[in-house]
Amino acid sequence: METVNADQFAYWDGDAGHVWVRHQTRLDQLMTPLTQALLDRVGEASGLAILDLGCGCGETSLALAERGAHVVGVDLSSPMLARAVDRVGEAQNPMFIQADGATFEALEPLDLIFSRFGAMFFQSPADAFTHLRQQLKPGGELLLGCWQPPAENPWMSVGGRAIAPFLPPSGPGNDPRAPGPFAFSDPVYVTEILTAAGFDSIEFESVCETLLVAENIDAAVDFQCELGPAARAFKQLPEEVVQEALASMKQALGPFVTDQGIEMSGSIWSIKAVNQRG
Ligand SMILES: C[S@@+](CC[C@H](N)C(=O)[O-])C[C@H]1O[C@@H](n2cnc3c(N)ncnc32)[C@H](O)[C@@H]1O
Repeated sequence: METVNADQFAYWDGDAGHVWVRHQTRLDQLMTPLTQALLDRVGEASGLAILDLGCGCGETSLALAERGAHVVGVDLSSPMLARAVDRVGEAQNPMFIQADGATFEALEPLDLIFSRFGAMFFQSPADAFTHLRQQLKPGGELLLGCWQPPAENPWMSVGGRAIAPFLPPSGPGNDPRAPGPFAFSDPVYVTEILTAAGFDSIEFESVCETLLVAENIDAAVDFQCELGPAARAFKQLPEEVVQEALASMKQALGPFVTDQGIEMSGSIWSIKAVNQRG
């Protein structure tokens, strides 16, 4: 597959993709309130031609197709797309294609480019969004769900902070705008990118929800260790240090135990922009 985002292709087409497939049901459940907020903002979708950018295992592509849209889901990850294809069965809609969203040529002019957490991984985001805008009809829209900063997302940051003292130093210069889940957490930066790409009417809505992360602390720790910052780091640590770090993570998650399980808040930007050009 041709890509201008080779590092992300290696990451998502490899282990990370398999981890997301393994946790697909839990991840989609956890994100339900955020997904709902994004879908509500789409509004009436019947008959619309929609690209689901970085569609992963297909949850939002399926939801948009159920609302009557013609959906093409595009993603770098073959394991995640295989799950998406399984979920669709015999239906032709949504259709899934393995491609780099930065260069993908849409099969027809689009009414909407939608993405739930799949738009923050481009090496050259202004170039990618210029190309994406050109796939839209005049008046076509972009709707992106992107994480707000880690401090607004305890469900992703509390566990990582608790184990940080046990991990090797991460080296200088962690660029907060480098491709990754928080790359679009700053509205000023995203506005610059989308303006440079030729979008107009750029609007940010803040969505903050309580997320059911897991049924109990042990499950929450397991989950964080597979998907969070611990996943890679723990492989290089001696067993006794891993045990200390896990104890610290459990303690940090304690205050979030409720009758329902482990509940933590998550905050995203729901970002809308319009292609006013022809
Ligand atoms: C955090 S996951 C989100 C997946 C899915 N949208 C969801 O909400 O479950 C990010 C997704 O973006 C995809 N992705 C990253 N860079 C991409 C690119 N340049 N083109 C297409 N997909 C990309 C990854 O393969 C991955 O599936």
